[in-house]
Amino acid sequence: MDTSFSTLGSLMIILALLLAAFGTVVPQVEGRAFFVFGDSLVDSGNNDFLVTTARADAPPYGIDYPTRLPTGRFSNGLNIPDILSERMGTEPTMPYLSPLLKGEKLLVGANFASAGIGILNDTGIQFLNIIRIWKQLKYFEQYQTRVSGLIGAEQTQRLVNQGLVLITLGGNDFVNNYYLVPFSARSRQFSLPDYIRYLISEYRKVLVRLYELGARRVLVTGTGPIGCVPAELAQRSRTGECAIELQRAAALFNPQLVQMLNGLNSDIGSNVFIAVNAMEMHMDFISDPQAYGFVTSKIACCGQGPYNGLGLCTVLSNLCPNRDIYAFWDPFHPSERANRIIVQQILSGSTKYMNPMNLSTIMALDSRT
Ligand SMILES: *[C@@H]1O[C@H](CO)[C@@H](O)[C@H](O)[C@H]1NC(C)=O
Ligand SMILES: *[C@@H]1O[C@H](CO)[C@@H](O)[C@H](O)[C@H]1NC(C)=O
Repeated sequence: MDTSFSTLGSLMIILALLLAAFGTVVPQVEGRAFFVFGDSLVDSGNNDFLVTTARADAPPYGIDYPTRLPTGRFSNGLNIPDILSERMGTEPTMPYLSPLLKGEKLLVGANFASAGIGILNDTGIQFLNIIRIWKQLKYFEQYQTRVSGLIGAEQTQRLVNQGLVLITLGGNDFVNNYYLVPFSARSRQFSLPDYIRYLISEYRKVLVRLYELGARRVLVTGTGPIGCVPAELAQRSRTGECAIELQRAAALFNPQLVQMLNGLNSDIGSNVFIAVNAMEMHMDFISDPQAYGFVTSKIACCGQGPYNGLGLCTVLSNLCPNRDIYAFWDPFHPSERANRIIVQQILSGSTKYMNPMNLSTIMALDSRT
């Protein structure tokens, strides 16, 4: 009795010592890591650390953010990645360039997105120093090296493999490239259908690289209704109808994107890439804003000129008093409330919105493995 008791006692002491030695050096990951790539629709502030004109670092950006201060998000409040994190019960992912993103905070994931970028390297050149998609992927590699120093290579690979990825690209390849100016270099080089085929083949390379870097669940958003944003209504529409040419571009691009993702998934033999139909999600409240509690989907809350769609949203712009009743916060970006509607569809939308399945289904599937 006595001896077995003391054996048990010393065993427990050894166990406690082991836990003390190793329990502290391997920080536990709470929830699923989240990685974000793309443009201003998902940039949470990286551009604030860069020399670029594509930034949201001045009021009234952030007017409805918890701190009421600009954060670099192109929103009055939260953006889509923030709301996704909120709904998954994890902390918001921080911009990769933030000096505050270090140590255990890295285990939550990271946001590599940068406003102004596109699929192509020449998209957004007018914004000077932005993080193009291939650089974002380089930073993802660097991130993994940093995390390996914290929890080891094996655990890092698991964290990345089990993580969720969101990538939002493509809109700028039209708005800030092909259609930026009449007779742009790309529009002289390519007909629209050929340009789109080129975009899709370049995008495929990006996604293959993301897979090689360990991504195993990737939400890929198609382009929204780029012809219906207040900026395009102001420049290209006399009657308030969505700009036809840009809508045609989106209508050609999105189905080819879905087809490309299906092809990748069948090559891999697994549903790694999930198509998010941003077009359908936006068109719901653009076609019938009142049904979603908006007074308008044509006029931006913050801006100037027709539809508040000209120029940038600045402290001198018109500003609506209640951001919740506007679908568009500024000439290009949805309001927080519109972002919430989009995230709701990502989580529980039917196959009309999410192909082949919604995020709730993904989370249920992945929690079983
Ligand atoms: C874009 O830039 C990356 C990295 O600099 C390079 O590897 C890639 O080949 C470029 N793509 C094209 C189409 O030039
Ligand atoms: C999407 O998610 C919900 C759960 O929120 C589920 O009930 C529904 O069947 C899913 N829809 C599809 C088409 O996968």
